[in-house]
Amino acid sequence: MTVVKDGSHEPGTAPVDVHDPRLSRFEIVKEGARRDDIEIVTYESQFPMPNSKAERRVVRNIALLFLLSGAGALIFLIAYIWWPWRFELGHTISDYYTAVLGISLAISLFSLGFAILAWAKKLLPHEVSIQDRHDAPSSDDDRLLTGQTMAYMVDELGVQRRPLLKGAIALGLAPLGLVAAAPLIGGLIQNPHKDEEPMMFRTGYNPVPNKGQLVRLTRADGSPIRPEDVSVGGQITVFPGVAGGATNEYADSPTLLIHLRAGDAQMARQATDADPKNQGVMWGNYVAYSKICTHAGCPASLYEQQTNRLLCPCHQSQFLITDNARPIFGPASRRLPALPLTVDEEGFFVASSDYRETVGPDFWERP
Ligand code: FES
Repeated sequence: MTVVKDGSHEPGTAPVDVHDPRLSRFEIVKEGARRDDIEIVTYESQFPMPNSKAERRVVRNIALLFLLSGAGALIFLIAYIWWPWRFELGHTISDYYTAVLGISLAISLFSLGFAILAWAKKLLPHEVSIQDRHDAPSSDDDRLLTGQTMAYMVDELGVQRRPLLKGAIALGLAPLGLVAAAPLIGGLIQNPHKDEEPMMFRTGYNPVPNKGQLVRLTRADGSPIRPEDVSVGGQITVFPGVAGGATNEYADSPTLLIHLRAGDAQMARQATDADPKNQGVMWGNYVAYSKICTHAGCPASLYEQQTNRLLCPCHQSQFLITDNARPIFGPASRRLPALPLTVDEEGFFVASSDYRETVGPDFWERP
């Protein structure tokens, strides 16, 4: 058996018995290379003196990169769970939610990438090998040789004899694994069906969160509306009279309050009363429909007084208000939901209940 210490291939070397227990793992690896017609041109450690000052410095730098990766991942997780993310008017900390997630994840992934690159370039032995490829099934010996080669490569990574790197990898990669799982698990934490009145099925007009009080219809500035504020044939966009009712927090609640002419109101009442879901939704000659288009959610707000049609500017759907907001043109296929109206003891419009069906484009079929 001939094994050259510097690892170079010696032509003409006789095959060795790979089951010989006296062989070192590196000798088996070399034999595997020889049988595979691999010529190892160069194979030399970057640190001839093990545990030298230079090696320790490289190990420290790589460990630092792994720890930085773990710290970035931890910041991502903390921000993902606890950073305020809801939109708020004005300049608030929630403006930075996406930026913090992006920057922390970038730091984590870049640090991990640089750590792996530095490990490969600075710690692993320099090796240049040349192999002629050939076709053939692998023999038992070849499989043993491959297994030993892989085990040898793991040994050469030096994780076992570099406990600092071992710890840094564990600390760095564990949070990164959690980062991968966080968006999947996080999406399952908030159950949209958990309340008695699930948030997906209520708007700002729902009296339950308003301590059971009927919710007023208000302008964007929060002022309530009396019937005489809307002229005959006129219309006004209204919002729920609750705190933040005109903000994105109640983005599903904008409603069009319309004062119909007497003849039109009579037609509209017949149509709404014929619909079991919309019986009694009108108050006097007033009717209110959701502004969220049932096609794709745009604001349907172009009201044509002469024809009583409500037009959605996005894809030109038209809803006939005197026929219970039936879609008569365009891609929308569902009626606009009606908001049941009444007037409170002070003479202001209130919603006598929330919408009786979900507003906007539904995720299930609705007549
Ligand atoms: S969103 Fe209204 S027509 Fe498409």
